[in-house]
Amino acid sequence: MSDKQNKLWGGRFSESTDEFVQAFTASVNFDQRMYDQDIRGSIAHATMLAEARVLTPDERDAIIQGLNEIRAEIEAGEFQWSVALEDVHMNIEARLTERIGVTGKKLHTGRSRNDQVATDIRLWLRDHIDLIDSEMSRLMHGLLGLAEREAATIMPGFTHLQTAQPVTFGHHLLAWFEMLRRDRERLADCRKRVNRMPLGAAALAGTTYPINRERTRELLGFDEICYNSLDAVSDRDFAIEFCALAALTMTHLSRMSEELVLWTSAQFDFITLPDRFCTGSSIMPQKKNPDVPELVRGKTGRVNGHLISLLTLMKSQPLAYNKDNQEDKEPLFDAVDTLQGCLRAFADMVPALVPNREAMREAARRGFATATDLADYLVRKGIPFRDAHEIVGKAVAHGVAQKKDLGDMSISELRQFSDQIDEDVFDVLTLEGSVSARNHPGGTAPEQVRAAVARARAALAG
Ligand code: ARG
Repeated sequence: MSDKQNKLWGGRFSESTDEFVQAFTASVNFDQRMYDQDIRGSIAHATMLAEARVLTPDERDAIIQGLNEIRAEIEAGEFQWSVALEDVHMNIEARLTERIGVTGKKLHTGRSRNDQVATDIRLWLRDHIDLIDSEMSRLMHGLLGLAEREAATIMPGFTHLQTAQPVTFGHHLLAWFEMLRRDRERLADCRKRVNRMPLGAAALAGTTYPINRERTRELLGFDEICYNSLDAVSDRDFAIEFCALAALTMTHLSRMSEELVLWTSAQFDFITLPDRFCTGSSIMPQKKNPDVPELVRGKTGRVNGHLISLLTLMKSQPLAYNKDNQEDKEPLFDAVDTLQGCLRAFADMVPALVPNREAMREAARRGFATATDLADYLVRKGIPFRDAHEIVGKAVAHGVAQKKDLGDMSISELRQFSDQIDEDVFDVLTLEGSVSARNHPGGTAPEQVRAAVARARAALAG
């Protein structure tokens, strides 16, 4: 068979495709990932066509059986993918005709690759959104478990990466949880717009066959159909939206990564990561590097890049389908793979991290972390806050000079700065006193952390 005849669209052509152009325009090397979605879409389409009496029941059965056999061939690694057949859609269709004969050529009735590919990507993305959702949920449950165990563990809270006030480690972990909770909401929201069906739009204007789009929608589990055929085949906003939420989730993971990297350093020493999440150095025998969080931090860049790629791909495209859109797949696939992999690594790693409670506590103790508590104490004794701030500032300066934390000073030492200070000051200068006093919803008190964990667990279950 000559190259020209080999093409499913070769009818109007008088010479075969340039060899380089053939490879240049082909997408089969990457879009074969959507083989299962393509086959599911075709089975639903054939089922609907038979109900609409466009295909006979025998033709439908032959098509469905042929497609299921092709799926088995692909999964057994026996399918011969051909670049000459351009993409996953034509590879499967050509193989169907090879297997079942002329009936195979009827599958494409009332359909175009334009609505077919748009349907396949949406099905593929929907499947992967569900996988990503379960990794997110696994990570979130892991965070809740760790936060509960560390509800009363004291660590320094930072602003400007300078010790600010003591917080509980559990509270810090719940801040991560909140970021992910919003990411997961965005994912669920994106799924709603992904889960709409382009099939039936055909090439761009719809089809003259008596199709029943509602039936195909139902068979494929879409929530709705796309209501305009031109829009259905052309827009990839759902993929852009996914990349936007993926970039945001990666941004959150990169923030967590950064903290993990800092905390594993000898300078912080707040946590230990199990060896299985780290690697060594080929030259420095003492090294144990936090590779997983470093890589997650680094991979954020590629997902941000994919978002920009897709926005730029879509920008200024006239209606309806343009070949440009074939370029949607690699960025989307890689954004999905990257996010899924990073979430999986985090879900495995986070519950296994070992906090060094002593080092965290010591760091909080050293950094004048209870200075605000002393100011609040003076306010309760009737001193205006600005004056209290000034008094405590002087006490801190004294502490810096004497290399002494506020809690280490004697009562007479403290009283140099204000005669309003009494023995009960030590209740607020302790780290436990400081965190327990922040006892309102959203505050760092151990009691609040435990309540927040319980609320979050109920929300995840519900
Ligand atoms: N491989 C193409 C894509 O990914 C399929 C649609 C092509 N349609 C067409 N008329 N050339 O977008």
